[in-house]
Amino acid sequence: MLIAGNWKMNTDVPEGRTLAQVIADRLSTQPQAFDDVDFLVCPPFVHLPAVRDALDDAPVAVGAQDMHAQDEGAYTGDVSAPMLTSIGCDYVILGHSERRKYYDETDAAVNAKVKQAKRHGLIPIVCVGETLEQRQAGNAEAVVRAQVDGALADVSVGESGALVVAYEPVWAIGTGESAAPEQAQEMHGLLRRDLAERFGASVADGVPLLYGGSMKPHNAYGLLSQPDIDGGLIGSASLAADSFLGIAEKAMDVLEEETT
Ligand code: 13P
Repeated sequence: MLIAGNWKMNTDVPEGRTLAQVIADRLSTQPQAFDDVDFLVCPPFVHLPAVRDALDDAPVAVGAQDMHAQDEGAYTGDVSAPMLTSIGCDYVILGHSERRKYYDETDAAVNAKVKQAKRHGLIPIVCVGETLEQRQAGNAEAVVRAQVDGALADVSVGESGALVVAYEPVWAIGTGESAAPEQAQEMHGLLRRDLAERFGASVADGVPLLYGGSMKPHNAYGLLSQPDIDGGLIGSASLAADSFLGIAEKAMDVLEEETT
């Protein structure tokens, strides 16, 4: 189970460092409490070194929220994959709906970034999800399929996986209204089948499928207990250690129930 925080454009650097420190402290005082949960935080670029240092030896990976598709060059304001790996990033979120909406990111652009991430050993977290209008028009599945098709065109994934896909229905992001667990599972099942057709069943089974969109401690259990939901990509609830770790506790409840 992967519990990932997308901090978006929130907190200044001292606040981000403190949040990371609180998470690290809580994990070190309760080491067994979260045994089977993999943690990831994705703060803003400028926070990355401070957050990496604050997490020190804590079992929490660090990721970025976007990156450029080229190694280097005259791209004012951008950040490259080698920059991210040089400060200890393992993951990068790509194709988030906010990037698609505010920066007109296309599936082709996401595809170029996915390939670049893989070339540099970064694990891409490919975000897909339909808008409310697309869902109401009955096009949710077609939209998500097309996004996966575009983002993963000519991408190969070995047995080691090294790919994460996040289903984030746009209408559930930041609205306080998450998808119903069954509704999310329906799309996650489709994603798993799509990945199995693309890469084979054993690779598909190893690709964590995250749900994102108003995941909170109170609704996390229902979502995380679905068979094809392997974790969460959490926005606002990842900005406080209590709610972020509260969701991780629900993940542990689900995992414990599965083993009994
Ligand atoms: P919220 O959890 O704030 O809805 O954000 C979800 C998200 O966009 C994570 O990438």
